[in-house]
Parts: sequence; structure tokens; C-alpha cells
Amino acid sequence: MKVGIVGAGMVGSAAGYALALTGTAARVVLVDRNEKLALAQAQDIAHAVPFASSSVVEAGGYDALAGAGVVILAAGVGQKPGESRLDLLARNAAVFADVVAQVRAAAPEAILLVASNPVDIMTDITTRLSGLPPARVIGSGTILDTARFRSLLGAHLGISPQSVHAYVLGEHGDSEVLAWSNARVGSEPLASVAAQLGAPITADVRARVDAGVRRAAYTIIEGKGATWYGIGAGLARLVQAIAQDEQTVLSVSIRTAHVAGRRDVALSLPRVLGAAGVTASLHPALDPAETEALAASAAVLKETTEALDL
Ligand code: 2OP
Repeated sequence: MKVGIVGAGMVGSAAGYALALTGTAARVVLVDRNEKLALAQAQDIAHAVPFASSSVVEAGGYDALAGAGVVILAAGVGQKPGESRLDLLARNAAVFADVVAQVRAAAPEAILLVASNPVDIMTDITTRLSGLPPARVIGSGTILDTARFRSLLGAHLGISPQSVHAYVLGEHGDSEVLAWSNARVGSEPLASVAAQLGAPITADVRARVDAGVRRAAYTIIEGKGATWYGIGAGLARLVQAIAQDEQTVLSVSIRTAHVAGRRDVALSLPRVLGAAGVTASLHPALDPAETEALAASAAVLKETTEALDL
């Protein structure tokens, strides 16, 4: 599959690097209004390819996206220390007005993967600007928060994160919801496994994991200015699910007709992802506090989107 990436900054190039190293995309095309940056990133990534796969990595203009099966939208600005994801909205919405039109003209068949923040609202905006069905405009959403949750729980238990099944729902941002009540390890409830392993989920553990997930981006941005490896790998994982028509359950964001007491809001739920995009959304059974938190998260996203007055 040919995969386009618009925005050759740290997130876009990390996605390109992950796609090239894993050989998930036969061809990766980087597009950026800074053509020298796109070319430099493409060349640097291409020099890693002989060690790993046979992907072709190149830079080009929007016309080079023709025939792409997926286009990743990673254009716009990222958070600076002290900023929330929602603080980026006006700037990135303006960038997307142009980007989405150009991508649609060049690659009308492509599924769009939205990575720019605030990713849920950018997904909603992209759905509207593109005219595509919501199933084909997919935000990376909480894929990364879910990875952070699984990884912290795995570290606490001494179990591979791949055997930890736990999701972060709602906004990819401050109001996100860690779905503790249905977390499982293997096929067993988290609390039962934690007790058996002598590593109970105490209030302190829960608070530490919650903060570790919810504050991860802030901490990393303080230390190195931005985050890119985690989201780059997550985007490559989404492309793999589409390219191989996996029908895998991943927590991604799409505009959803009815969710958490709201209509037409983009947020993350566990969703089934394959060649046609999202083919089903799962509505997990949550406890009352999580249900309330998901409704609050949906409300934040809906109200922020409406305030934008598109
Ligand atoms: C992250 O969570 C900043 O949204 C980005 O790493």
C-alpha cells in the first residue's frame, strides 16, 4: 500500500520511520509546505530502509499522493510546555481547511488518519471538510493513551503489556477516561490477577497509573519539547490494520452519531478497524463513575467543537 503523510515534523516523520522499518507500506510519501524539510526527512528515513525492509520513501507535492490507500494528516502545530491540546485548535483548524481539500483532490480513495491535535476535534473537522463517511476519517484518538495504560499496568504486574487488555476512552486529552472496571489480564479481571500476583491495585497505584497516563504528554513535552515515537508507532499500527484488513479492535476516534448522551461527537471507543476503515464501534460496559466521566468528556468535546462555529 502507498501511504501519504502530510506534515513532515516529528510526528509525521516518526510515522514514516515506523512504516518504513516495519515494511507496512510499500511506498511512503512525505508532503510538507517546507519542501526541504520533507525531502530531508524522506532521505533520512530512506537511509534506514536497507537495514529493515524494502519500502520506498520519498518526498513530493500533493500530486504525489495519487493512489494512496491511506493519508496521515500530521500537519499543524504541536503543544508547547504549559499548553493543553485544546489550546491548538484555532491554529490547526485553519491549517486543515487547505490541507484536507488538497488531499481529497489528489487521493480521493484514501482513508484519512488524523494525528494533529486536538485530535478528536480535528477528526470532526476533517470529516466535515472531506465529505467522507465517518468510518473513513479516523483520528489516532486514545490509541497512545491506551498503550500508556497497558504499559503502566504491565510494569506494575510484571506482565507483558500485550497481555493487558485495558482501554482509554473519550477525549485524547485532559478529560480522557481510563476504563478500569473492565480491564483484564489474559482472560481474567485485572483486580483478580493483581491479587494473585501480590500486586494489588491500591488507591495509590490507581492514582499513579492514572496520572502516568493522563500527564504523560505533559511530562515528555517538558523534557524534550514534543512526543513522537509513541504516536509514530501507533499510526503505523493503524495503517497495518487497514492495509491487512485485520478487523482489529483499537481505540480510535471517529465522529459518532450517538455516544455518552451526545450526538455527532468524535471521541475514542474500542473500534473494529480494517480495509474499509472502522466497521464497528464497541460500547464497553462501564461503572457509574466511568459512565459519568465519559459523558463529561463527550460534553467537553462537543461544546468546544460547537464554539468553533464551523
Ligand atoms: C501525546 O499524547 C502530545 O498528543 C500527544 O503524546
